[in-house]
Amino acid sequence: MTHSDTDILVIGSGIAGLTFALRVAEHTDVVLVTKKARLDSNTNYAQGGIAAVVGRTDSFERHMQDTLRAGAGLCHAERVETLVRSGPMAVADLVDWGVRFSRSAGQLALGIEGGHSHPRIVHSQDRTGAAIETALLKAVADHPRIRLLEHHMALSLQVECLGGRRRCTGAWVLDVESKQAIEVRARATLLAAGGSAAVYRHTTNPSIATGDGVALGYRAGATVANMEFIQFHPTALYPAEEHAFLISEALRGEGAVLRNESGDAFMAAYDQRADLAPRDIVARAVHAELKKSGGPHVWLDATGIGAERTEERFPGILEGCQAKGVDARHEPIPVVPAAHYVCGGVWTDIDGRTTLPGLFAAGECACTGVHGANRLASNSLLEAVVYAERAAARMLQQLPFVPAPCGADVPAPVDLSSFPAEELATLRQRLKHVMWDHLGIVRNRDEMQAGAAQLEELRHKWSTLREARSRSGGGQRWSEAAETLNMLDVARLVVRCALWRRESRGLHYVTDYPYRDNESYLRDSIAVSTD
Ligand code: SIN
Repeated sequence: MTHSDTDILVIGSGIAGLTFALRVAEHTDVVLVTKKARLDSNTNYAQGGIAAVVGRTDSFERHMQDTLRAGAGLCHAERVETLVRSGPMAVADLVDWGVRFSRSAGQLALGIEGGHSHPRIVHSQDRTGAAIETALLKAVADHPRIRLLEHHMALSLQVECLGGRRRCTGAWVLDVESKQAIEVRARATLLAAGGSAAVYRHTTNPSIATGDGVALGYRAGATVANMEFIQFHPTALYPAEEHAFLISEALRGEGAVLRNESGDAFMAAYDQRADLAPRDIVARAVHAELKKSGGPHVWLDATGIGAERTEERFPGILEGCQAKGVDARHEPIPVVPAAHYVCGGVWTDIDGRTTLPGLFAAGECACTGVHGANRLASNSLLEAVVYAERAAARMLQQLPFVPAPCGADVPAPVDLSSFPAEELATLRQRLKHVMWDHLGIVRNRDEMQAGAAQLEELRHKWSTLREARSRSGGGQRWSEAAETLNMLDVARLVVRCALWRRESRGLHYVTDYPYRDNESYLRDSIAVSTD
């Protein structure tokens, strides 16, 4: 076992981790770890864009109201106001770091998506995430004070008692290639490990979205909130497979229309905003249409946009559809819902501080209070930049007063490199099926309870397998075993929060309680580890 010391440790190389690292590296040294190659992040797959009030006829008030309305009563208004008012500056920062957004007549081109009352989606064709990732990674790679370690997976956070207080003092990190666990001691740590939607059978997320940030924070004792609010994107390309290809909501913003098996546009029957209703409503409508018809998918008809405009605005989607034999310019696209985004996460204050001193969180693994019960489209990239920058400012302020970690009493992680491989893969698949079947778009209490029991069995099975490990393996096996544990912990948090909330609100729709209950549940669901 080796160790490495740094001022600041960042876990995750998506938009939040990179933004944060660039900011703090103006003043101090940073180690940034990422479990795969640097470009492997959820950010890289984001198609739609970043919502910000940059248009002359738009207003902060409107963006705030749209966010609050989508969030179904659970957004924290002051956090939303901070988010929205910081939007133009966040976009300017990204441009300064080299991100090239689409323009029209010299101005930023603005799209519209569900739940927005005004065009305000700044984008880079339909590859916004990739444009942001590429530019930020270049800035990070060029920075002399940032050490980026690829194929380094955080296994557990270090918690020490310093000056009579529990404090996060870094993490145990697995060097996947050398199979070595490294103790990275840091005076402050940012969790920016991205999303969790890979716990579902069908998801728009890449397979890396295993909830590492939430699980690490939770196991270290930080408070986690609102994990029941899983956003299903209504339009993933059918067949969805494990990693489904996303068909951006921006397509509906340009005029594409959802149609049922008979070819009828159905969204107006569900909401007056029709195809541009917030995502929870559209996903439930698609679910209802699928139930009614018994068919495998509905259609997204983008033929009205016009071939030339589609080619110019959505080259990535055209390519993705063409790979499956669909020409989106001239024929409707078969689509189904898929798990897309987790609104809950490690709870933070307005400056990214978690309840565990020394630990900050930003990006999808954090719950900053801006999304409430349903995230407004394209608010997540914005949230990641705004709240990562705030966390950076706060951390830099605190750093001179933070005691140096000593790492004396932190136990080393158990070597999992010989975890049985086949059993591990089976366990993961079962977990994904349980989540898809029992904690989907429309839930009921019996199903959720049955899901909870199955997840406990799977967690027990993971422990049994750990004890039984015997055959020789490698660093990859170790990281997969660690990821699977994280998925199990996250899945159990989802079901725990979902069972606590005996009402329907935003993304959490339960047939036993189809209404909102503001008297009892106009509050965040909270989970704290009792270990
Ligand atoms: C999309 O492009 O439809 C996804 C954007 C988002 O999740 O905000």
